[in-house]
Amino acid sequence: MTAALAGRRLLVSAGPTFEDIDPVRFIGNRSSGKMGFAVADAAARRGAEVLLVAGPVHLATPAGVQRVDVRSAEQMRAAVLAALPVDAYIGAAAVADWRPRAIAPNKMKKTAGVDTLALELVRTPDILAEVAAHAARPALVVGFAAETEDVERYARGKLAAKQLDLIAANRVGVAGAGFESDDNLLTVFGRDGLARELGPAPKIQLADALLDLIAERLS
Ligand code: PMT
Repeated sequence: MTAALAGRRLLVSAGPTFEDIDPVRFIGNRSSGKMGFAVADAAARRGAEVLLVAGPVHLATPAGVQRVDVRSAEQMRAAVLAALPVDAYIGAAAVADWRPRAIAPNKMKKTAGVDTLALELVRTPDILAEVAAHAARPALVVGFAAETEDVERYARGKLAAKQLDLIAANRVGVAGAGFESDDNLLTVFGRDGLARELGPAPKIQLADALLDLIAERLS
């Protein structure tokens, strides 16, 4: 039996952020939003009030979910912080870690004889860490970790450094999991000592299994 989430307010982030370089170019990543949308969908089916902050994706809004669309990390931060307080924040978005220091107002032109271009990048805000340190900290703060190597070590590092309750780690850059795929394989680590492998399975099933862990900890 799935644990209910009626009366709970869940905030989910999903998709990539795009950091503009000029009016036609941006820095982005391969997140499709499928994982975060699956979490929002599964939470709404359990009766939660769900607010979904979505980066630029091509997905329909799940039934019963309230959605706010954003483009950049800064916009995602503002939308996430504006939605607090909530019972749980689930950060499934692949937020850009870097953005260009300045956005060129016009399309950057190529110059004959110049073969290189240097872009100065600055760090974006860490939304997940900020939520976890917020005065209105949700009872449960859940991160994801997208790693190409040393998945457990890096995921446990983020769990501790960002002061999370749970982190769902997935390997990216492999077929059948991570970005864009309909399926995934998650290993969830908890500050309470949890280490649980979920999948491989369709993202909607994994979302449900993750929500079981969340609902248990909220009750
Ligand atoms: O969208 P899909 O195509 O379905 O792919 C799913 C997914 C691979 C994107 C998803 O399963 C996933 O792993 N999401 C997190 C991706 C990520 O950015 O991981 P990270 O290890 O770089 O970041 C760790 C955590 O910090 C994440 O919860 C992220 O949302 C958060 N973060 C990161 C940087 C930042 N500036 N702010 C953040 O909040």
